[in-house]
Amino acid sequence: MELKVFKNYDELSQRAADEVINLVKQKPDAVICFASGNTPLSTCQWIVKKAASEKIDFSKASFIGLDEWVGISPDNIGSCRFFFYENLFKPLHIADEQIFLFDALAKDLNNECKKMDNVIAEKQGIDLMIVGIGVNGHVGFNEPGVDFNLLSHVIDLHESTKSVGQKYFAGTTDLSQGITLGLAHLINAKKVILMANGKSKSEVIKQALKGSVTEEMPASIMQKHTSGFVFVDEEAGALL
Ligand code: GLP
Repeated sequence: MELKVFKNYDELSQRAADEVINLVKQKPDAVICFASGNTPLSTCQWIVKKAASEKIDFSKASFIGLDEWVGISPDNIGSCRFFFYENLFKPLHIADEQIFLFDALAKDLNNECKKMDNVIAEKQGIDLMIVGIGVNGHVGFNEPGVDFNLLSHVIDLHESTKSVGQKYFAGTTDLSQGITLGLAHLINAKKVILMANGKSKSEVIKQALKGSVTEEMPASIMQKHTSGFVFVDEEAGALL
């Protein structure tokens, strides 16, 4: 794992966007997994800008959604699907056939997990995964205590995830479970970038990178990734 500290959020976001742009230049049919949330927002905006100015063809790439709130409708502004379509898929004109997201309203969520695992296997794995980190150390919805060996799964959300997650929604929303790629997907991905910005992430970044590798701190798995990069701004990296 390699740590890169950037001056600020904008520099970090531009560099992460470059990773996506350069990958698609080299491998037009790349398989890219993205997280939603506040952290990757500016990265998405930079990808859209750079794709337009450099005329990048995204028509052969595949996009995998990292996670979703169980029971939340796709037209809810707080859903991960809503984020992806608004910030990435619509502006980049990505066709539905290129997009693979969990259906969090499906009756059979285990089948949703199997479908996602099959898609990733058929595509010979994920080329680039861009993820964030929760203040409790979660990655996607891999909450503290999660088995590092899991593929896609449904999980009960921790209290902190339920309360912090309210920031994405228009009004108080009942959040109880998440459906998520597992950390086995992360460790198997050809390249992973975990991003964190701002003071609120400094403590968890310290624990994840300097503490022991433990399922109690899911993001600590990054220490084991042979092609893992952690991009932080100076604020998130302040305690390193
Ligand atoms: C959320 C999501 C993650 C996200 C993380 C950090 O709950 N499940 O995929 O990366 O928490 O979110 P943010 O970037 O908004 O801080």
